[in-house]
Amino acid sequence: MVKIAVSGKGGVGKTTLTAILAYLFAKDGYSVTAIDCDADINLPSALGVKNVTPLSELKDIIEERVVGPFGTYKLNPKVDDVFQAYSVKNKEGIRVLVLGTIEKGGEGCFCPQNSFLRAILRHAIFKQKDVLLLDMEAGIEHLGRGTARGVDLLIAVVEPGLRALETLNRIEKLSSDIGIEKIAVVVNKFVDSPKAKELIEKIKYPILGIIPFSQDFINADLENKPPYEVCDLKPFEEIKKKIMEIVS
Ligand SMILES: Nc1ncnc2c1ncn2[C@@H]1O[C@H](COP(=O)(O)OP(=O)(O)OP(=O)(O)O)[C@@H](O)[C@H]1O
Ligand SMILES: [Mg+2]
Repeated sequence: MVKIAVSGKGGVGKTTLTAILAYLFAKDGYSVTAIDCDADINLPSALGVKNVTPLSELKDIIEERVVGPFGTYKLNPKVDDVFQAYSVKNKEGIRVLVLGTIEKGGEGCFCPQNSFLRAILRHAIFKQKDVLLLDMEAGIEHLGRGTARGVDLLIAVVEPGLRALETLNRIEKLSSDIGIEKIAVVVNKFVDSPKAKELIEKIKYPILGIIPFSQDFINADLENKPPYEVCDLKPFEEIKKKIMEIVS
């Protein structure tokens, strides 16, 4: 129904946004899958789950599914059962998966691990119904062209600052390279000032919402609670509404 990739620089609030949107969609009765695609794994704890096995660590399964005869690689390995077996459902019924780290093998690496993780993403994007949220790093390369075409919307999370605009330029280039058409922005950790407003005006993408800087998020993190249990959900409800307008 709606497939969203959340991207942005380190620490801007990608995981917080992903977890809260997952929660709000689940609350509306959608079946939600949330995948941590960041090497620095933190989505499970933001959704209140522990012990999610990173799929990149399933060395034997990867070997068995991906490596064919004479050392060839299968580009479309079977992964649907893995998807079921290695996902964990949280209290709200959100299905959580963790991709883990792709060993860097240079441009266009077709190492078995990479084919496997790409197959997982392809399965998520093309076979899962309802809502899919991908918590990604600033680099969205490992989506790959074919898979990226199934993403309805890329949300770039930015903190108001000059660097945000640079990030947006990079995200724009990456997404056009792999074929994601729709980009929208969430401004996070906003502290009101004329300079911040001026910068926000320079953003040329639709702005889904502006989330104020709030101690609530930091406290949630400190207390190891999902952010949606403690923060003001109103701006996120607005964001969800705008997402539905954009993708429908
Ligand atoms: N609006 C906000 N106000 C204050 N703190 C925030 C806000 N949003 C997120 N935070 C805090 O900022 C920190 C980073 O947030 P989060 O983990 O969501 O970012 P991230 O982009 O996923 O980071 P990483 O790149 O490390 O994965 C966390 O401590 C979080 O609680
Ligand atoms: Mg994160």
